[in-house]
Amino acid sequence: MSAPAILRLGKVKSVAQFQEHLRALGLDLPCDDEIVAGSESPFLQPLERGEIKIGNRIAIQPMEGWDGTPDGNPSENTARRWRRFGQSGAKLIWGGEAVAVSHSARANPNQLVIAEHTRDGLARLRSALLDEHKRACGSEAGLLIGLQLTHSGRYCRPNAHDLPEPKILYRHPILDRKLELPPDFRLLSDGEIESIIEEFHRAARMAAELGFDFVDIKHCHGYLGHEFLSAHTRGGKYGGSFENRTRFLREVVQGIRTVAQRLKIGVRFSAFDTVPFYPDPAASRAGKLGPGIPEPHRDLIPYRWGFGVNAEDPTQPDLTEPMQFLALLETLQIPLVNLTAGSPYYNPHVQRPALYPPSDAYAPPEDPLVGVARQMVAARDIKKKFPNLVFVGSGYSYLQDFLPHVAQAALREGWIDCVGLGRMVLAYPEILRDVAEGRAVQHKRVCRTFSDCTTAPRNGLPSGCYPLDAHYKNSPMAVELTQIKAVKARV
Ligand SMILES: Cc1cc2nc3c(=O)[nH]c(=O)nc-3n(C[C@H](O)[C@H](O)[C@H](O)COP(=O)(O)O)c2cc1C
Ligand code: SF4
Repeated sequence: MSAPAILRLGKVKSVAQFQEHLRALGLDLPCDDEIVAGSESPFLQPLERGEIKIGNRIAIQPMEGWDGTPDGNPSENTARRWRRFGQSGAKLIWGGEAVAVSHSARANPNQLVIAEHTRDGLARLRSALLDEHKRACGSEAGLLIGLQLTHSGRYCRPNAHDLPEPKILYRHPILDRKLELPPDFRLLSDGEIESIIEEFHRAARMAAELGFDFVDIKHCHGYLGHEFLSAHTRGGKYGGSFENRTRFLREVVQGIRTVAQRLKIGVRFSAFDTVPFYPDPAASRAGKLGPGIPEPHRDLIPYRWGFGVNAEDPTQPDLTEPMQFLALLETLQIPLVNLTAGSPYYNPHVQRPALYPPSDAYAPPEDPLVGVARQMVAARDIKKKFPNLVFVGSGYSYLQDFLPHVAQAALREGWIDCVGLGRMVLAYPEILRDVAEGRAVQHKRVCRTFSDCTTAPRNGLPSGCYPLDAHYKNSPMAVELTQIKAVKARV
């Protein structure tokens, strides 16, 4: 029996019809009938909690561009993206994009690196964002800018986009096979981990010197920080118990507090996960990926290779440990938390719900609205338990024209503190500023989750919104992407 067709949201003409669709899917998401414009807008309310002051409730999610120079400096395309982040009107810039703490920590050979030779380049990026924000919004008051610090761990590709150089903490029975790692592939030693921790300290000190308000110690999407949280099977002081699996975080924080005392700290983490997915071979044919199905895992129960998953049925979330992690963040006085889920590499439908899959993934295994709801509901449940932390929510872009209605209701009902925009910003940065200031949504600019911003980098091209942003649409890069997609479609 084939799955029911997914309703294209671009064809839904009214909020009432969208709400009806949510009901038909059995999704309990809040959705306002009308958008409030002006000073009463939930999007424009300032947030003040302890030392954290944010001018409004709009956040820009970190988004890597694959467009830095080979030595890790920003290019003009990188600066353009950061200017657009500034233009969005968002008062919380969560990290800009993942910036590697060293050359070997990069996820791609064009990822930004934080080091002496990139100091001026990173300073220019921050200024570009700030200047554009002041130009568009009149003032920089209430603007909080962070830098996301990352080590790519299992997904390191520092030297060439087709040359993986994984750094792993433990053997993963499914991911090792997918990454074609031999059984004797070397694990990072405790000594190497200590050096990486020092790189985070050095990077944070530089971020503070450059004027960033906070750093995000990235713990999401299958990269190194996230892998620590699921290192149940690793021996030694960085694996096994919850205390050992969070030692990396604690040691990074401790050092930052010594070298950059006034720098605020945030953590973006995958609050839940599932097993890796792959395209159903029985439903795949040339040029058409089948819907995603979970990789076989019956022989792997209890499942010991995930964080925020139910060990008896790892396709289901279990928030017990994530809640413990949040309690730890509170104890460590880390006030800023960005909630995300899964990984773009092994279960993208969980992390960035989309109608069109990236070229190396699978067709949607569910209505992508189910994925949006999964992240939003988990965030609501978490927020209830930790009212004093400031939470940014993720995964809203698939809501398309109805993003403002759902996001406004989520803020109004206290499901989340700030609404994070990812892909939508690449397509239409000022969508929430438009509606909060009483302008209509420009439908032609709304992200339709075509996934080209993921497919392009997977094939060595810079990320950007190729279908909707004229800068990419009319470029030679778009011609190249079309050719790559045509070749893949024939395979
Ligand atoms: C092109 C692209 C690059 C991304 N890069 C990062 C990154 O550097 N760091 C990060 O934490 N998340 C990254 N993400 C994930 C987004 O921040 C966000 O969580 C995801 O796209 C879901 O939100 P959305 O539905 O608003 O797009 C990236 C997403 C995309 C599409
Ligand atoms: S390429 Fe553009 S429309 Fe497609 S998902 Fe990315 S931002 Fe959205």
